[in-house]
Parts: sequence; C-alpha cells; structure tokens
Amino acid sequence: MVDDLEPGTAMLAELTLESGADIPVAVVRCDDGGFYAIDDLCTHGEVSLSEGEIDGCMVECWAHGSRFDVRTGEPDELPAMTPVKTYPTRVDGERVLVDVDRPRTKENA
Ligand code: FES
Repeated sequence: MVDDLEPGTAMLAELTLESGADIPVAVVRCDDGGFYAIDDLCTHGEVSLSEGEIDGCMVECWAHGSRFDVRTGEPDELPAMTPVKTYPTRVDGERVLVDVDRPRTKENA
C-alpha cells in the first residue's frame, strides 16, 4: 500500500472498528511523504474527501472548497466549520496501518 500512494495523493479505505462497524477513511500522503488518515466524509456534506485535491498537508473538498489539515482535521475555509476525525498511522514494511479505534484528540495529538 505504501507504493500505491504517491506524495500528494489520497485513497479511500473501508476499515473496520473493534465493534465490527465499517467506516470510510481517507488515507492521505502529504507532499512531504508523510501518511495521515482522516474520516473520508466532509463535515459539511456527504462528499468523499479522498476525491479531493491534496496541497501540502491540506485536502480540499471538491464540492464547496473547504480545506482540511490532515494532521489536525481542522478546516481552514468555510463552509465547513467542524473538524474531521484524524487517526494515528504507522508504516509497517509495505503497509500503512491506521488505528481507527483510537482517533486523535487534542489530548493525545
Ligand atoms: S460538502 Fe465539503 S465543503 Fe461542502
């Protein structure tokens, strides 16, 4: 999976929580090569952020242009005002592991 994501790209991954529920996650590789994971759905509408444009560590929602920082989940442009959840990632060989059961908070960021 590491090789599937060039810097400046994102992909949608359906991941499973410990509870058994599936959630859509956007796995993003920033322009600097770092891997990040955020909720795939924009907090303004039902739009997939993995289909958005990556600029640095920002992903832009294609519907109305809100940009989310994939490191913090914070939007920097209206109309979205609510952050997306972010998840810890770790590279293990050729795989990018995402811990969807422990979303980042201000306390553990
Ligand atoms: S749906 Fe994403 S900014 Fe409106």
